[in-house]
Amino acid sequence: MGLTDPSRRLEAIPPYKFAELEKQVADKKAAGIDVISLGIGDPDHPTFSHVVEAMQAAVADPGTHQYPSNRGREEFRRALASFYDRRFGVEIDPDGEVIPAIGAKECIYNLCSAFLDPGDVALAADPGYPVYTGGPLLAGAGAVLLPLEPGLGFVPDLESIDSDSLARARLLFINYPNNPTGAVVPDGFFERVVELAGEHDILVVHDNAYSETTYDGYVAPSFLGTPGAKEVGVEVFSLSKGFNMTGWRCAAITGNAAAISAYWRLKTNVDSGLFEAVQLAGVAALEGPRGPIEEMNAIYARRRDLVVEALREIGVEAQAPRGTIYVWAPVPEGHTSTSFAELALERAAVVISPGSMYGPSGEGFFRISLTAPDERITEAVERIREHMG
Ligand SMILES: Cc1ncc(COP(=O)(O)O)c(C=O)c1O
Repeated sequence: MGLTDPSRRLEAIPPYKFAELEKQVADKKAAGIDVISLGIGDPDHPTFSHVVEAMQAAVADPGTHQYPSNRGREEFRRALASFYDRRFGVEIDPDGEVIPAIGAKECIYNLCSAFLDPGDVALAADPGYPVYTGGPLLAGAGAVLLPLEPGLGFVPDLESIDSDSLARARLLFINYPNNPTGAVVPDGFFERVVELAGEHDILVVHDNAYSETTYDGYVAPSFLGTPGAKEVGVEVFSLSKGFNMTGWRCAAITGNAAAISAYWRLKTNVDSGLFEAVQLAGVAALEGPRGPIEEMNAIYARRRDLVVEALREIGVEAQAPRGTIYVWAPVPEGHTSTSFAELALERAAVVISPGSMYGPSGEGFFRISLTAPDERITEAVERIREHMG
């Protein structure tokens, strides 16, 4: 092994599929072309002012300046529990069933280290958030992809998972409202997941990153609202998207107490907890008014409609999602995900994500993020109409 050779586990992570497109974007920008990026899902509006003000006060208080406990401040745990009660009708014990996480990404990754050994696998939605597959590999385990079936509403066909995978599986990653497909959970799916998990001793991780970002009157449930869910699963709740707080790294894990305790044990060896001022800002977000969330959702819904309409005009049958900040659509005949993304960049100078970035079942699709400012979305939509029809 060479001095700086990465571990075999790190080498096993597939290469970053966006790399070639990223280089083309850089070349275009260097040539003075005005590129509009609809690739990444990162809210363009600032964090709500009541959250910023709470942070300002919290950061000025020396009581927040020392090492936080990985258990989290009591105020944060209680605020999360009362949010879950109000918002989802789910009862959480703030003393044993919730702790903060430094973003959902950290939490998902660390759950892999906490629960997977070599020989084990995680069942991971495909297409899906890349950490569902990278996390298991970095833990020295494997990932078994569960294709999301468009015909089933972008859920995996649980009946078709082979018995060897079920026997080796220790974790199952699911996520609704879903990135990248924009799908919301179909009736009865969470119930079937609880059943499967109980039968095969698989810990369910529901990644609840988008529950607050929904449209057309749809209200997203918590997985923990499903009867029996707490016996078999945890939910990762992130403040990143719904509260415009991606940079703050503020999330929580809640649900099965024994699973949370194992995650806590892992974290005491890995990090030193979430900055207490951020936890207090999180309290302000969770206890704050819903008006700003509704305003953001109205903004995204308007952008979504503009994008879907423009795509239909160029012959792409995009469905308007009822949740998330993404439009997921099939590429036109004769294109792969990557060739269509390259065409969008070439002809319209608009960056879109090839669906294959999110797993092999994403091939044949592309994703447009709604988090660019209104005027940029409008401009992108005009360019798509003009140059891609
Ligand atoms: C499904 C999903 N889970 C988790 C995350 C990461 O969330 P956080 O900012 O809390 O780490 C994202 C971000 O894009 C996501 O799409």
